[in-house]
Amino acid sequence: MDQTLADRTAVLTGASAGIGRAIAEDLARRGASVVINARREGPLHELAEAVNAEVGREAVVCLAGDAAQLTTIQRLLDRAKDHFGHQADLVVVNAGRGLAGSVMTSDMAQWEDMVTTNLLGAARLMREAGTRMVASAANETWPGKPRDIVVLGSTVGRHISPFSSMYGATKFGVNSLAEAQRRELGPKGVRVSLIEPGIVKSEFQAVAGYDEKSFGDLMEKFSPVLEPDDVARTIAFICAQPAGVHVCDVMIRGTRQDYP
Ligand SMILES: NC(=O)c1ccc[n+]([C@@H]2O[C@H](COP(=O)([O-])OP(=O)(O)OC[C@H]3O[C@@H](n4cnc5c(N)ncnc54)[C@H](OP(=O)(O)O)[C@@H]3O)[C@@H](O)[C@H]2O)c1
Repeated sequence: MDQTLADRTAVLTGASAGIGRAIAEDLARRGASVVINARREGPLHELAEAVNAEVGREAVVCLAGDAAQLTTIQRLLDRAKDHFGHQADLVVVNAGRGLAGSVMTSDMAQWEDMVTTNLLGAARLMREAGTRMVASAANETWPGKPRDIVVLGSTVGRHISPFSSMYGATKFGVNSLAEAQRRELGPKGVRVSLIEPGIVKSEFQAVAGYDEKSFGDLMEKFSPVLEPDDVARTIAFICAQPAGVHVCDVMIRGTRQDYP
């Protein structure tokens, strides 16, 4: 695989499954050094061991914890600097969860957890990463090295779906945060990008609690839906652009997915 991200130091949340797992593998194969995070420690370690053996270097180190908490976020960014010797210049804000149902029908007991992870956690990481990246960029003459914050939005964070409107609201939230931070930090040399996938096969559907029958019918209608690798490859494309070029927004769906 091309080594277009060879000099990059990355921090990635939500790497124990699905899209995050694929991003960790992809970044390491393209030469980056990555601190990976999720709450489950076991899958993180298994992933790191497998990837490091495959690429023949210590490309991936783990730090388990709740990515919504500021202390975890600070430890992740500190670990990148202490372990790999560089401030993180590629941060993927990926940890997140879905929730089946609308404002009328979704399980209210799960609202707070989802909003904390998807919105507050994302905002905290964007702020901490942005602060550190701006400070590093200030010591360089433009154009310096590329610096990226990549945020996972969703098609339901741009197109309203009455079927998952509580989840969609968190993704509408990160959509606006990403564009606002892009405007704020772009002039300071930091690219903030939003990637909005349609349906991707992962643990997401089970965590969200989608009704198996109706979701299964949808999957069949749209098949084949995206694989996590499709999202990972697109993120690598965004981050591998020269420092003066910014692919700000990408929506990606399986070709046959017509809604949302
Ligand atoms: N799958 C889709 O159809 C789809 C579509 C559009 C956007 N997205 C977005 O893409 C991102 C990844 O989703 P996915 O499909 O890969 O889902 P997934 O397979 O369920 O993976 C979610 C990952 O996030 C981690 N996570 C959840 N809460 C966390 C927390 N508080 N702290 C740290 N890690 C946490 C999970 O690990 P632990 O449980 O070990 O913490 C897991 O590694 C999410 O932001 C999601 O909203 C997904």
